[in-house]
Amino acid sequence: MNIIELVKKIPHSVSVRIKNRRRYRWMVKQMRMPDPAETVRPKYWKKCGVEVNGHFKVGFGVYFDAGNAEHIHVEDGVWIAAQCLLLCHKRNLAEYHVGDDYNKTPYKIKDIHLKKGCCIGMRTIIMPGVTVGEGAIIGAGSVVTRDVPPYTVATGSPAVVVKSFPERS
Ligand SMILES: CC(C)(COP(=O)(O)OP(=O)(O)OC[C@H]1O[C@@H](n2cnc3c(N)ncnc32)[C@H](O)[C@@H]1OP(=O)(O)O)[C@@H](O)C(=O)NCCC(=O)NCCS
Repeated sequence: MNIIELVKKIPHSVSVRIKNRRRYRWMVKQMRMPDPAETVRPKYWKKCGVEVNGHFKVGFGVYFDAGNAEHIHVEDGVWIAAQCLLLCHKRNLAEYHVGDDYNKTPYKIKDIHLKKGCCIGMRTIIMPGVTVGEGAIIGAGSVVTRDVPPYTVATGSPAVVVKSFPERS
């Protein structure tokens, strides 16, 4: 009897148990590994020049304006969820007229501030010059074009404040 016939003879319940054991071991190994959101990604951001004050977390596939990284300021406890986009530059359209070449218009570069403990929901775009206030929450899929006050929820495109949190009495 060859190995394939032998494997076929293993009862289904046994093979499921073996598979589950392997999955369990793999899961335990993953859990023991440091979370890249708290380790390698913030470290990489700092190396690129982002001004960091404390510890923050970055989800999978977040894009930031690496060429203007020094214009991004992140405070302690900030959570940037997966696939967000942080942009510090855009074209200055003040002097753009019919017949002009858009690609020759100068750039406007503005700082982004993510204040202490704010949370940027998945797939959010933060536009140049925006300050997200302390403890503020940005809804998933928002485009933030204006400052967001502390302890509020802002959602949509452009993001607007939809909720404000009260002081604890
Ligand atoms: C915005 C958010 C914080 C609101 O949470 P909440 O206060 O529990 O809100 P609710 O689910 O009760 O919804 C309240 C209203 O906001 C709307 N809403 C919720 N999330 C929204 C979003 N991302 N964009 C636009 N509107 C949204 C709801 O439709 C609802 O509208 P209604 O009152 O007209 O029915 C939350 O929905 C969100 O997007 N969190 C980020 C999630 C995320 O990115 N997770 C990954 C990180 S770990």
